[in-house]
Amino acid sequence: MRLNQQNLLIRPGPREPLPIGLRDRTFENFQVTAMNRKSYNDCLTFARRFPKIPQGRGILLMGPSGTGKTHLACAIVNALKDTHAVWFANVPMLLERMRTSNVSVDELLSADLLVLDDIGSERETAWTVERLLLIVDTRLSNLKPTVFTTNYEIKDFEARVGMRLASRIVGHNLHVFLMGPDWRLSRR
Ligand SMILES: Nc1ncnc2c1ncn2[C@@H]1O[C@H](COP(=O)(O)OP(=O)(O)O)[C@@H](O)[C@H]1O
Ligand SMILES: [Mg+2]
Repeated sequence: MRLNQQNLLIRPGPREPLPIGLRDRTFENFQVTAMNRKSYNDCLTFARRFPKIPQGRGILLMGPSGTGKTHLACAIVNALKDTHAVWFANVPMLLERMRTSNVSVDELLSADLLVLDDIGSERETAWTVERLLLIVDTRLSNLKPTVFTTNYEIKDFEARVGMRLASRIVGHNLHVFLMGPDWRLSRR
């Protein structure tokens, strides 16, 4: 079974993995500043070298709200979606769907690239941690890269999702930090 409400979870390819409100987020329209240049370059390099990524090494994008984490994750999706099986899921929403209906995660497990957006923002229970561990562990075992975004710093992230999950995510992925003002506020 596939869930497709608002395009937020799972869509069959080929492929528009992003919900409509996020489709326009690209590297081209990401404004590069002194504060985000390194993060931008790390993400662009990841997308360009994607077929040669060693050991399924993904990215953990960290930083406060509104600093461009989801934008950069979507830019990676947009750069790769025509050539690879790419899936995007907002974690709180994914877990809610998994809790309330019988969702298959097979496509998330086997995708060439999976984005798990906003991990740590879910209401954490033993069950949510187990579900996320299953996804993260399976992808690690198959050397499939995952891009994570989170509003939490490493210490807080560990406290939120627990050490078992955090150590896998923190230990296996490139850390990319976003800083600076909240773009949502600066547009008003
Ligand atoms: N460097 C940037 N250039 C242009 N727009 C940006 C940039 N960073 C963030 N934005 C925009 O600001 C809004 C919030 O960014 P988002 O990526 O959702 O933040 P986060 O996921 O870090 O909370 C989005 O509309 C996004 O497109
Ligand atoms: Mg975000």
